[in-house]
Amino acid sequence: MANRPTPFDAIAIDGPAASGKSTVAKVLAQTLGLTMVNSGEMYRAVTLSVLQHGANPSSADEVLGILRGLELSCTVEGGVSRILVSGEHPGEALRSETVNASVSGVAAIPEVRLQLVDLQRSLLKQSDLVMEGRDIGSVVFPETPYKIYIEASESVRSERRAAEGLTDSVSERDRLDRSRKTAPLVVPDGAVVIDSSQLTIDEVVEHSLSNLRELGWFTRNSQDVEG
Ligand code: DC
Repeated sequence: MANRPTPFDAIAIDGPAASGKSTVAKVLAQTLGLTMVNSGEMYRAVTLSVLQHGANPSSADEVLGILRGLELSCTVEGGVSRILVSGEHPGEALRSETVNASVSGVAAIPEVRLQLVDLQRSLLKQSDLVMEGRDIGSVVFPETPYKIYIEASESVRSERRAAEGLTDSVSERDRLDRSRKTAPLVVPDGAVVIDSSQLTIDEVVEHSLSNLRELGWFTRNSQDVEG
């Protein structure tokens, strides 16, 4: 990995809604001492701002008009990167029903993705990361060898959301996230696929750690010196 632009490495975790990837990413980050980044929060923050401004989330022009006026940045708290809008974390409103209903449409706008992918990539200049989302292994960090794709059956994923007390039409969001033209949800080239339907979080983490071991995560610095 000579001549790479950053000395840091990213573990990319992708998968559909409620596949368990956020929890797994959090536990992996704690276990490995890395910063965890939930990229979905960024798309949610833009969507929430659009709604708060009374703009139409289905209109790319209106969304981009709001986006141009937003001051987006990130801060790391307790090993987790949080999105800030004008210096403030938007809080629980990010996971509201109205945001759930509009976020996939906003995330399908190419210019929104360009700006947020830039922000996501900039975080790798500061530390090693576990970043989870829909296009992390395919678009944000396609060159990382550490790619994990976590899936689960649709019924299991809907039950998980309901158990959290959330109404979130995961199947509709997945349909939109998989069918959009720019950076659709796919299994990235080279990713290890883990089906979490019948597994506990600890089992998925164990599986991920053993895959990372096989992929050389724990010896990567010595590989750099040799390579
Ligand atoms: O991970 P999440 O469910 O909070 O993500 C919310 C939405 O954001 C998801 O339906 C699609 C979009 N998203 C995306 O397009 N690309 C990402 N890397 C992360 C999320």
